[in-house]
Amino acid sequence: MPISKCNNTEDFRRLAKRRLPAPLFHYIDGAADDEVTLARNTAAFNETRFIPNGLADLNGMDCSTTVLGQKISWPFFLSPTAMNRLFHPDGEKGVAQAAAKFGTMYSLSSLSTESIETIGALTSGPKCFQVYIHKDRGMTRDFVERCKAAKFDALCLTIDTLVAGNRERDIVTGMTVPPKLTLKSFASFAAHPCWAWNYLTSEAFELGNVKRHMKGGDNDLTSIIQYVNSQFDPTVTWKEAEELIGQWGGPFAIKGVMSVGDAKRARDAGASAVMVSNHGGRQLDGCAAPFDMLGRIVDAVGDDIEVILDSGVRRGTHILKAIAMGATACMIGRGYLYALAAGGQAGVEHAIDRLTNEISRNMTLLGCAGLSGLKRSMLQKGNPMERT
Ligand SMILES: Cc1cc2nc3c(=O)[nH]c(=O)nc-3n(C[C@H](O)[C@H](O)[C@H](O)COP(=O)(O)O)c2cc1C
Repeated sequence: MPISKCNNTEDFRRLAKRRLPAPLFHYIDGAADDEVTLARNTAAFNETRFIPNGLADLNGMDCSTTVLGQKISWPFFLSPTAMNRLFHPDGEKGVAQAAAKFGTMYSLSSLSTESIETIGALTSGPKCFQVYIHKDRGMTRDFVERCKAAKFDALCLTIDTLVAGNRERDIVTGMTVPPKLTLKSFASFAAHPCWAWNYLTSEAFELGNVKRHMKGGDNDLTSIIQYVNSQFDPTVTWKEAEELIGQWGGPFAIKGVMSVGDAKRARDAGASAVMVSNHGGRQLDGCAAPFDMLGRIVDAVGDDIEVILDSGVRRGTHILKAIAMGATACMIGRGYLYALAAGGQAGVEHAIDRLTNEISRNMTLLGCAGLSGLKRSMLQKGNPMERT
């Protein structure tokens, strides 16, 4: 199936499954433990219904918003995800270019296969860098200075990955980083000669940001889990978040906030935004869905800081529901990774195009000419027979 035939995230998912060796597909697709949270993340959106209005004045429809100091054309942007060149040689460069083309923000992961400097110089589009606090604090401080020099617009600190989540699909498939031919994975790599050819003939795998800090280089990694558990610091506290926000001195989001208490702590530490996220269900299984917590968090801190939501977003209507609930914007993760795996930069562009199409069509169907027209009163949850 060509990417032009993909109409939605699920189509891209199916195509990614065909194009990627099993360890890599399941690394993207999988989540922690029983994947209960993964399923809940999207179900939470689908259990909420719209109540549209008709015959509104829709002249000059505008879906733009401002997030982390940057005007973006659509109320969603791309969340940070690790190691994109494993999925397609276009990797982070292709994803960043696709985001810039559609006037939205790109986020680069600490664990990317391209460096801060490469992505900083690549596009003039808005860019956010995602930080993990490493045991080697010099490394964390160095990230911030490199982002300043490379003219990144914003930073986000991920707080939900103090240890790696238990992703059992990776154990079953024999996922290693970089990919290695193991007894478990051999058949799957052999069955995907196109991916294998691309991987072997494109730039060698490297973790662009952290390699200079790793004694044996980045080729001694056997798994991302081993990296996270050996390098990330599980003892980090809000005090250090506050110091990092001070060092950066610009727009700063805390990613992985799930409670009202943490949202308030992030605001009090000086953050300009919280990213309500459970890492796409990849960390704490049994965790609440971000959409289920969104209203309470918006009510607590929404007048003071921006509230961004990710995890489970698969449709334009999911984004519009989050905005109606009070979010400033959403982010998508797997929604662009499946497309990257399926068709490189062109795939990501097609996926973003589909989402923007869904957003403008559904804004029309809802009777809204701008995002401020989306109100919580246009959402129905629980018993549909209740009076609204
Ligand atoms: C393959 C993969 C790698 C990820 N890597 C990172 C990462 O390096 N840093 C981070 O903060 N979040 C990472 N995430 C989480 C995303 O930023 C985002 O929170 C999540 O994908 C949102 O859920 P969704 O995939 O349902 O949209 C990753 C997610 C996936 C699927």
